Formats: sequence, structure tokens, C-alpha cells
Amino acid sequence: MTNSTSSVLITGATGQVGREVLASLRGEPDLTVMAASRNPDHAGDLGVPVVLLDYDKTTTIAPALDGVDRLFILTGYTVDMLRQSKSLVDQAVKSGVSHIVHLGACGADDTDVAHYGWHQFVERYIAASGIAYTHLRPEIFMQNLLGYGGIDVVQNGVIRYYVGNARWSWIDGVDIAQVAAAVLRDPAEHAGKTYRLGTEAKTYDEVADVFTQVIGRPFRYEARPPSEFLEIVLSAGGEPAYMDCVYQSFERLSGQGIPGSDEIFNDFTRVTGRSPHTFADFVQRHAERFAY
Ligand SMILES: NC(=O)c1ccc[n+]([C@@H]2O[C@H](COP(=O)([O-])OP(=O)(O)OC[C@H]3O[C@@H](n4cnc5c(N)ncnc54)[C@H](OP(=O)(O)O)[C@@H]3O)[C@@H](O)[C@H]2O)c1
Repeated sequence: MTNSTSSVLITGATGQVGREVLASLRGEPDLTVMAASRNPDHAGDLGVPVVLLDYDKTTTIAPALDGVDRLFILTGYTVDMLRQSKSLVDQAVKSGVSHIVHLGACGADDTDVAHYGWHQFVERYIAASGIAYTHLRPEIFMQNLLGYGGIDVVQNGVIRYYVGNARWSWIDGVDIAQVAAAVLRDPAEHAGKTYRLGTEAKTYDEVADVFTQVIGRPFRYEARPPSEFLEIVLSAGGEPAYMDCVYQSFERLSGQGIPGSDEIFNDFTRVTGRSPHTFADFVQRHAERFAY
């Protein structure tokens, strides 16, 4: 049963996934939806009240969580997620937050991929807090094709990436947000659940075929060495600890592979009652960006 006075705070609201969560919930009559940002002055286009929240400035956390009932936690591409999430969860307990939805990452409980594991430490910390929770574990975002860590992945019909012929499990960020929104609307229904969100398994050669069909011009995949990835993301200002883990995972994917990295799940449809967006839908939506 939805509480008619429930207040929802969306962190990461200016980013890829958070912005879509907000778009799904904006205007919901039963919810008071707020966004969080380090720069509320630059987030005026979000269409909801924006509160100041900088995980690294702990004095901003208590005011941001004041009166919040349901909290969507998203952290950036950094090992600081561990410290940041701890501060946030500790304050959420004190502020009386009733439900946390956490955006984590890929992998089964026994994953040995380091940054997936960091997200699982955060999951466990949330579970131990006593606050009701729902963990979202998205696989690879289709949005990475729009650019990742300063890398222009798709240029003039060539898709350059760093995982050899590995087949990955993908999901559209819009669909991750749909699941988050469904949980935030009706948290009791989803309490204690972990949702694995990967809806389509494809190699980059197969992704290139989708681009060719949808855009109507030839696309091809060029497998590049993972070392090149690390060089580019670090020079673009990527956080070294996180990006080193991504690099290590790319080395494994290009070689012996990572067990389960192509696994897909039906949690999206079970939660939303809809079919997920396909890769073709994603490419079509961004056709202007990919055309050449
Ligand atoms: N890309 C993938 O394939 C993939 C797969 C699985 C999981 N993930 C996970 O997805 C998450 C990233 O999601 P995304 O791509 O939507 O992120 P994003 O577009 O990079 O946005 C990051 C958001 O975090 C906020 N943020 C960053 N540092 C902050 C701080 N110190 N205090 C408060 N807010 C802060 C930013 O808000 P402001 O700048 O407005 O403050 C921004 O809205 C990561 O946790 C990653 O591990 C990604």
C-alpha cells in the first residue's frame, strides 16, 4: 500500500540512471519527489526541488535526508562509493528513512570482480542497517555506447572497445530506472529483494550488426587492447582504483572470460510487467548521435 505522504530522494539525479528514475516518478500524485546534487544551481532543469548533497562533505548529508522516507542511492565510478555509502546509510538510520533502493552492479553473490564486490559490500551494509532495502544489480549499460570514461566508443561506423569477443549481458539504463521507480512507488512489495538486471546478451560484433541494421550504414567492431582503455580513462580524469578494476575485468574478458558475464534475467519483466527495450530500440533512440 502506497503512503500518500511519502517523500522520495533520488541521488545521482543529474546522471544517466538517476535522471531517468526522476523522469519516471516526476508528477506522481502520491509521492513528494526530490533530487540531490552537488550543484543544485546547475540542476534546475530536473523539474523537482533539488537539495544539496555531496557525499564527500558529510555536513550536507543530514539536511539532505531530513524528512526523507524512501532513498535511491547511486554513487559514481569510484572506490569512494564505500566510504560515501557508509556515511549515507549511517545518516539514513538516524533520519528515519524507511526504504533504500541501491544501484549496484553486475555479478552473482560470489563474484570475484573487485568493483562488483565493492557494490556488494554496500548492499550488505545496507541490509545490516535494519532499513528495508531493494538491491538492483544492473549488468552493462547500453548507454556506455554513448561514451564511457571519456572514450568516444562509436565513431563513423567503428565501435572501439576492449573486451575482445566476450559476450556481455546488457540493459538499457531507461529500464534500470523503470525498475527503480516501480520499487520506489511500492517498496513493501520489493523489500529484501535483489534484482539482477541484464536483458540481452551480445558480443560487440553482434552489437555492430544491430547498428548496421538500424542505422542502415555499415558498422564494425574493432577490439582494442585493454591497456589503451586504462591510458585514456586515466588521462580523462577517471578515478584510478575503480578504473583499474574495470581494466582488470577487461583483461579477463578478452582472455579466459568471466563466468556469468553473459547471463540474462527476467527480473525486469517480473517487476514492471513490460518487455525490456532491445538493443535495436536503444540504437534507434540515439540514431542521430550514431549516424555518420
Ligand atoms: N556503466 C555501466 O555499465 C555500469 C554497470 C553496472 C553498474 N554501474 C554503476 O552505475 C553507477 C553510475 O551510474 P551512472 O552512469 O548513472 O552515473 P553518472 O551518469 O556518472 O552520474 C553520477 C551521479 O552521481 C552524482 N555524484 C557523483 N559524486 C557525488 C558526490 N560526491 N556526492 C553526491 N553525488 C555525487 C552526480 O551528481 P552531481 O554531479 O549532480 O552531484 C551524478 O548525478 C556506478 O555506481 C557504477 O558502478 C555502471
